[in-house]
Amino acid sequence: MGIGGGTKGKSPFYPGQPVPIELFVGRSTQVERIMTRGAGQVTEGKPVAVFIQGEYGIGKSSITGYLQALAEKQYQLHPIYTPLGGAEMIEDLAQKVLEATLRSGALIPQRAEKLTHWLAKYIGEQSLFGFTIRADALQQDAPSIASGMLPFLNEVYARLRDTGITGIFLALDEINGITRNPKFAHFIKGLVDANALANPPLPLLLVLCGVQDRRREMIEHHEPIERIFDVVEIDPLRPNEVSDFFNRAFSSVNLRIEDDALKSMVHYSAGFPKIMHLVGDAAYWRDMDGVVDYQDAIDAVYMAADEVGKKFVDQQVFTNQYIV
Ligand SMILES: Nc1ncnc2c1ncn2[C@@H]1O[C@H](COP(=O)(O)OP(=O)(O)OP(=O)(O)O)[C@@H](O)[C@H]1O
Ligand SMILES: [Mg+2]
Repeated sequence: MGIGGGTKGKSPFYPGQPVPIELFVGRSTQVERIMTRGAGQVTEGKPVAVFIQGEYGIGKSSITGYLQALAEKQYQLHPIYTPLGGAEMIEDLAQKVLEATLRSGALIPQRAEKLTHWLAKYIGEQSLFGFTIRADALQQDAPSIASGMLPFLNEVYARLRDTGITGIFLALDEINGITRNPKFAHFIKGLVDANALANPPLPLLLVLCGVQDRRREMIEHHEPIERIFDVVEIDPLRPNEVSDFFNRAFSSVNLRIEDDALKSMVHYSAGFPKIMHLVGDAAYWRDMDGVVDYQDAIDAVYMAADEVGKKFVDQQVFTNQYIV
């Protein structure tokens, strides 16, 4: 047995989770576009709204996380990442934005301190590992935050200003549930319009992530939505990007991958990041001698196909339950 044989460390593959920044590949056109026309403009004081559009599992959340880290580093935009899964009403959204705001300072102590001080009433138990959120207080104030989202975000900005931030980067992800509510389209348009008319406007980069159907649904509910977003499409990755990903991921855990193995893993991933992680993860656990060879790769592809099948079936079951 070679390196890594027998005992396994941490897998560098993240099926079902946004990818860590150091393993993020491709997307240079989209990143460049959102950094210059989005983040760069916001830093100059001009608010921008972007819709990151792409199929399920194509990498919308991953590029958003990557952009938030980059925009924070390059332009000092304060990132607030809000997954809206489960939210149906605007009040649910408000709660989630508030909670995301509370947690948004986590990596920068000076900001964390200001935010937790300001929003102390929503903080429950403090522990060594962070804090719990007080759902009762949050629920009570959600309606006023929902109707005053812009003043709330302005306040975040004002309070963090002297930590060096130049604006806010608010990402609303997992919008599937909430787009069904016609009020959501109106809420977003209202937020963008109110900010455009403010003097000066809040330097806000607003990013929504979703499949094309969800954007269409928003437009059906409120036609002017069509014009407020710069739509950025996320496509499958190119073969050389997938190849780059496997090389980086395997070498990060000191595994070597043989050429023909790499070729078939790239081929069967077909540019889909979700499949790429499933295949990679299977190969990682399959390998016993520190070298991923052709047989490991083929076995991994079969295992991943099995996983994809299972997940597909689960999703069907889930979707059907949802409709009923
Ligand atoms: N650019 C990338 N480089 C490497 N891995 C990626 C990249 N983009 C996405 N991934 C991986 O692909 C999978 C799907 O990515 P992600 O969750 O970001 O997609 P999504 O479009 O947000 O999916 P969903 O529609 O389920 O919300 C994850 O395992 C993630 O780690
Ligand atoms: Mg996602």
